[in-house]
Amino acid sequence: MEFNIKSGSPEKQRVACVIVGVHESRKLTFAADLLDRISNGFISDVLRRGDMEGKLGSTLMLHAVPHTLCDRVLLVGLGKERDFRAKEYREAIRASIRALTQTSANEAVSYLTELTVKKHDVEWMVEQATVITLDALYRFDRFKTRTDEAAREPRKLTLAVPRRSDLADGEKGLLRGLAIANGMKFAKDLGNLPGNICTPTYLAEEARRMAETLGAQAEILDGAAIAELGMHSFLSVARGSTEDARLIVLRYNGGREGERPVALVGKGITFDSGGISLKPGEGMDEMKYDMCGAATVLGTFRAAVEMKLPLNLIAIVPSCENMPSGNALKPGDIVTTMSGQTVEVLNTDAEGRLILCDALTYAERFNPTTVIDVATLTGACVIALGNVATGLYSNQDGLARELIAAGEEVGDRAWHMPLWEEYQELLKSPFADMANIGGRPGGSITAACFLSRFAKAYDWAHLDIAGTAWKGGKDKGATGRPVPLLMQFLQDRADIALGNVVRRGRPRREVPEAGDDDIE
Ligand code: BES
Ligand code: MN
Ligand code: ZN
Repeated sequence: MEFNIKSGSPEKQRVACVIVGVHESRKLTFAADLLDRISNGFISDVLRRGDMEGKLGSTLMLHAVPHTLCDRVLLVGLGKERDFRAKEYREAIRASIRALTQTSANEAVSYLTELTVKKHDVEWMVEQATVITLDALYRFDRFKTRTDEAAREPRKLTLAVPRRSDLADGEKGLLRGLAIANGMKFAKDLGNLPGNICTPTYLAEEARRMAETLGAQAEILDGAAIAELGMHSFLSVARGSTEDARLIVLRYNGGREGERPVALVGKGITFDSGGISLKPGEGMDEMKYDMCGAATVLGTFRAAVEMKLPLNLIAIVPSCENMPSGNALKPGDIVTTMSGQTVEVLNTDAEGRLILCDALTYAERFNPTTVIDVATLTGACVIALGNVATGLYSNQDGLARELIAAGEEVGDRAWHMPLWEEYQELLKSPFADMANIGGRPGGSITAACFLSRFAKAYDWAHLDIAGTAWKGGKDKGATGRPVPLLMQFLQDRADIALGNVVRRGRPRREVPEAGDDDIE
């Protein structure tokens, strides 16, 4: 789909559809009011008849509105005006796109981006609208031989900004939104691919192709090279499968030479059967999504490079299958990690931490300021937070705050979980330095505790995305989360490095002037 930024009156748009908002109790927005006046009250007449109240997310398509140049006007409910915030804005955008795809209109001009949302600028309005539109239009139909007739997509969407002086900010927001949406699409496609196609080898080749196309560097290590590094914990998981393991390492140097990088580490289990501690059969197909941490890291890397963020970034993805076989890792086995610490494997289904611990040790060689790992790590995290928030752990509270604020900014939320000493106790093993599980209570926390033992050399955060990376049920599919959170985090970091001020987790785009002190 093609996007455009424009400023201009809604009644003058010669287009298939103009999208405007209506607040609850039929309060027209500025653009809706303009259309109402030019049409001698046509819109308020329709509303008075009671077909639309302006409830958040409701829509009503009007045809042949007098004295306008467009074929249709789509009214979108915004809810109560005083409750209209970021969340409501996102919902309204999503509803408008859903309604648009149910008509044959293939071009539209949306005036929802002209609205104001407290604490947010034009750039944010456009960025969010772009990301949400492309997210709503996403489909994964690569393996359908007959295309769905419902699968329609408008050709062109123009986003309106209030003034001509806003055009440049709108264009900036659009570029950022497109980069984020592309990163999310990359992540969703990889996540949705079945395990028989998206193997560790495939994942590595896709990562290499992506990085090299964008001018970044890629290094791929196979099982033999991984063994040479001493990653015996990682390889102990890979051993049960006939698919060879891969360690994917991508580098992007957008920052100053010698500037310490941020490293992202993603769990890349392309299928998690549980291994010898085999999972129950029901819903096991969803374990093809066990590489969504890897997909997030690669999608974020892609977006950061596309956006040319001024920072140095490393992506590290350990990838393998977790399968049972005569060669497979067994409960009771003891493995030696790259760090030298030993692990007693009490459950082969707790494999994510076994591959991530070695990747965290490997990250040390890049002397990173910050390492963030992303993993579909525990079912317990889904029990704790459901499908709403990502579980966030960190050895540095400031970093945790940055990530929470970034997620808040873009509606991709995380929740700070504890990493207290008391939980570390649960990982004690009589035979090795630690066990790989801590029992059912606090299962997401003890998994994070395990990882923390390998992340002492830098500021570290862990995102448990078991509940947020994909949806089950009738809307089954990868979500692309938390690419938006990580991109906002990286943008904020880049802005801080440029000397800009971060306000409420969101940097102002300009360097503050003297006496400018409205920092909240
Ligand atoms: N990939 C799973 C975690 C998972 C399960 C994510 C269900 C999303 C939905 C992970 O490898 C795993 O199996 N974890 C075990 C750990 C347990 C054995 C300590 C779990 O959560 O049951
Ligand atoms: Mn598992
Ligand atoms: Zn797993």
